[in-house]
Amino acid sequence: MVGAALVRALQARGHPARGLLTPARTELNLADPAATRDYLVAQQPDLVIIAAARVGGIHANNTYPAEFIHDNLVIALNLIHGSYLAKVKRVLFLGSSCIYPRLAPQPMTEDCLLTSPLEPTNEPYALAKIAGLKLCQYYRKQYGVLFHSGMPTNLYGPRDNYHPTNSHVLPALLRRFHEAREANASEVILWGSGTPRREFLHVDDCADALLHLCTLDNPPDWVNIGTGQDVTIREAAELVAETVGYRGRIVQDLSQPDGSPRKLMDVSRLRATGWQPSISLRDGLRATYQSFLSEKAAGKLRE
Ligand SMILES: NC(=O)c1ccc[n+]([C@@H]2O[C@H](COP(=O)([O-])OP(=O)(O)OC[C@H]3O[C@@H](n4cnc5c(N)ncnc54)[C@H](OP(=O)(O)O)[C@@H]3O)[C@@H](O)[C@H]2O)c1
Repeated sequence: MVGAALVRALQARGHPARGLLTPARTELNLADPAATRDYLVAQQPDLVIIAAARVGGIHANNTYPAEFIHDNLVIALNLIHGSYLAKVKRVLFLGSSCIYPRLAPQPMTEDCLLTSPLEPTNEPYALAKIAGLKLCQYYRKQYGVLFHSGMPTNLYGPRDNYHPTNSHVLPALLRRFHEAREANASEVILWGSGTPRREFLHVDDCADALLHLCTLDNPPDWVNIGTGQDVTIREAAELVAETVGYRGRIVQDLSQPDGSPRKLMDVSRLRATGWQPSISLRDGLRATYQSFLSEKAAGKLRE
C-alpha cells in the first residue's frame, strides 16, 4: 500500500517510471541477505525507502508472532546493511507508532521510545521496527550515512489489505460494513469495547510526508508521521458505516482484545520541518471506499 502510494506520488511529481525500482518478492526476496546486497550493488540507487514489511492487524500479530519478528528484522537488517555495503547515500526506513510503550504519555513524542513496556499484542513487530530505526541511527552515527526513519500512524487508502481476519481495523471495518449493507444485515459486530482511541492517516498523505523527509538535509533520526488527531474505534466504525451507507446496528464483541487504550502521535517534530496532512478522515474514507469498489470489481482486492 505505502510502496504504491510512493510510486503515485513520485510520478505525480514528474519522476520517470524507469528511474523507480520496485522489485516484487518474486524478483527479490528481501529475506535473502546476499540477494538483497547484490541487487543494491548492481542497481546503485540514490535512495532506498524501506516500505516492505510483514504487516497486519491485532489478530495477525497475535497468531504469527514469530513470523512478525523474524520477517521484519531480516528485511530491516538486509536492506539497511545491504544499502551500506552498496554505498547508498540515503535510506528512509518505515517503522510504526507501535514502537512506543503501551502506556506512553499521550500524545506520544519521539522521546518516549524505550521508556516502559510495549503493548504485548504487537511486541514482536514493534521490537523489529525499533531495531530498524536503531540500525539507521547507529549506521548514521558511525559511518556518516544519511539513514533515517519515519514512524507512520495507522494508514488506510488504495491497495490496502482487506483480509477478513488479518487486516487492520479500518479496512476490516470497511469490508465488514460493505458486506453487511450488501446482505441487508441488521447488525455488524465490532471487536472489543470500541473505546480505544486511534489516529488514521491517508496513505497519500503518508507518501507525501515521506518524500518531504527525503528533501531534508539534516532530518531527525526518527520522526512521527500522523495527523495529531484521534477518534474512538466506535466513532471510526460509525464513520465507515455512514461512508458505505450501512444503516443497521453496531454491536460490540467484548470477548475480543482492545490493544492499547490510546495511540496518538505528537506530530510537532514533523510540523516543525514544514509538513502537514491535507486529507480529512471523512474525505479519505470516501475515496478509499471508491478504491475498494474498483479493486473488487477488477478482481484485484488484496485479501
Ligand atoms: N498499513 C499501516 O497501517 C501502517 C502503519 C504504520 C506503518 N506501516 C509501515 O509501512 C510500511 C508499509 O506498509 P504497507 O501497509 O504498505 O504494507 P503492505 O501493503 O503489506 O506492503 C508490504 C510489502 O512488503 C512486501 N514484502 C514483505 N516481505 C517481503 C520479502 N521478504 N521480500 C520482498 N517483499 C516483501 C510485500 O510483498 P507481498 O505482497 O509479496 O507480500 C508487500 O508488497 C511497513 O514498514 C509498515 O510497517 C504501515
